[in-house]
Amino acid sequence: MKDLDKRVILEENDGKSIRSFVLRGGRLTHLQERALQNYYDDYVIEFSRNILDFEKLFGNNNPVIIEIGFGMGESTAEIAAKFPDNNYLGIEVFLAGVGRLLHDIHERCLKNLCIIRFNAVDVLQEMISDQSVAGFHIFFPDPWPKKKHHKRRLLQEEFLKVLSRKLKPEGYIYCVTDWTPYAEWIIDEARKVAELVNNSENGYCEPVSWRPETKFELKGLIKKHEIHEIRLKKSGTSPL
Ligand SMILES: C[S@@+](CC[C@H](N)C(=O)[O-])C[C@H]1O[C@@H](n2cnc3c(N)ncnc32)[C@H](O)[C@@H]1O
Repeated sequence: MKDLDKRVILEENDGKSIRSFVLRGGRLTHLQERALQNYYDDYVIEFSRNILDFEKLFGNNNPVIIEIGFGMGESTAEIAAKFPDNNYLGIEVFLAGVGRLLHDIHERCLKNLCIIRFNAVDVLQEMISDQSVAGFHIFFPDPWPKKKHHKRRLLQEEFLKVLSRKLKPEGYIYCVTDWTPYAEWIIDEARKVAELVNNSENGYCEPVSWRPETKFELKGLIKKHEIHEIRLKKSGTSPL
């Protein structure tokens, strides 16, 4: 097997990007290891400093939705299977999660889902064209509850501006968290980004029927945390 854990990830990081994750180690299951061995080259795109050509990658012009931090990716695969007329790009650094999702992509014969294993902050900056993405899904991002760690939160003004720049006009950011202070923070940070509109009166939207429950959502529910759904839309019309 290729030495995937060393093919990492952070060498390219010049220290300027938000570091919103701790690289989880742990043993791979047999299923994850086999999927990494057999399907990595079919569905994982290596990080590079070249802009991705979505049409070439997916073989069509369908809308592209990027999920950041898919964890084990069960909900990612389920959503991709449910909406074959969308393309999905999952970004995650956790090797076991990449292995698990590779297994699901293969099992379900999904043609509309690819993976990048790298810091999403760098991927967005380096590989994704401005005004090219139909939507972003960010389900249960790490909450970084301590004040001294707030700078590690992914959904802060600086990164929301990047997401907004990558979105097509009318594109959306859909995030869900079980950590109330983070939910409030996201709403406040989004207010600082002029092109992002939150149409919900109290900042929170109704859950959508198509979003499957995720692993981290279940953990939050067991702790009796409230689930907060936030949907932001990019305003404006296309200059094209
Ligand atoms: C709390 S987990 C949630 C996983 C999954 N979405 C769920 O709900 O079960 C957050 C995940 O985001 C990933 N992550 C955090 N920051 C990231 C980044 N900058 N780039 C890629 N993945 C990131 C972590 O590795 C972790 O697996």
